[in-house]
Amino acid sequence: MSLKHILSLLDLNKSDMDRLFALAAEFKSRSQKGIIDHHLSGKVLGLIFDKPSTRTRISFEAAMMQLGGSTVFLNKNDLQLTRHEPIRDTARVISRYIHVLAIRTFSQKMLEEFALNASIPIINALTDSYHPCQILSDILTIIEHRQTYEHLNIVWLGDGNNVAHSWINASAILGFNLVLCCPQGFSPDTEILNNARQLGGRITESSEPYEAVKSADVIYTDVWVSMGQKEQESQKTLFQPYQINKQLLAHAPKDAMVMHCLPAHRGEEITDEVLEGNQSVVWDQAENKLHLHKALLVELLLNRNSI
Ligand code: CP
Ligand code: NVA
Repeated sequence: MSLKHILSLLDLNKSDMDRLFALAAEFKSRSQKGIIDHHLSGKVLGLIFDKPSTRTRISFEAAMMQLGGSTVFLNKNDLQLTRHEPIRDTARVISRYIHVLAIRTFSQKMLEEFALNASIPIINALTDSYHPCQILSDILTIIEHRQTYEHLNIVWLGDGNNVAHSWINASAILGFNLVLCCPQGFSPDTEILNNARQLGGRITESSEPYEAVKSADVIYTDVWVSMGQKEQESQKTLFQPYQINKQLLAHAPKDAMVMHCLPAHRGEEITDEVLEGNQSVVWDQAENKLHLHKALLVELLLNRNSI
């Protein structure tokens, strides 16, 4: 892989992604067979997190450690950044200690500034704008269940947020159909959407949840209020028709996969019954973050795509 940073999915092309999916599947199968790997022995992953995380943090740390490497976890408040040390200095210094850095923060610009000044790969572990690694592991889950992502209809229901933006980018690169069904005033960023369409993304918009899911292969949702956002007045009422519940699923194909990046707010964007139901693959999604992160770290650090 010739790329250096993963700031958004636009840093990858289709063959990069296909290689990651294949490598992640191989890591998953090896781990199921109990094979112990040491590919990243001696390598150090740093994590700077400015927002909470259960899955992304633990799966990145576990991926690194299971491959023989080690990790340094830092809350942004632990760093001199909070005492106005510039990002460019921080990035240059950290690059002398560790081999790769995953950052979860608010501003995409901050991440870009890190990348500009670092001499190690920088990975976006979620910003207000994107969540690229999430979508990579989600597509791995789709491939496991459907063998392919080609020609599938992915339906996004709810807030046009960071996760939606990464789905938009993924559709531009991989070519599946994406239907965005968001409440008025909560559409994804127009620039991100237009850019993806220009790149060839087959993306349509719908304001009718029942209509949108009619030929869905995947129905995806996320929290109504993301980290760092303020809940708007009457937001819950506005979002209620976009909830994934039994009534909505009755309008979708019986084998449509229900996906959620988690954490879920049961009873808001998804009902308890659907989250626990047989169309839900959310636990596979969560697990696959581990395998996908292993593939990503190996590609970025060893520049190799086979084990
Ligand atoms: N899906 C996801 O990124 O979860 P965390 O916020 O727990 O990392
Ligand atoms: N959109 C959510 C995703 C959490 C993984 C958030 O940013 O809070």
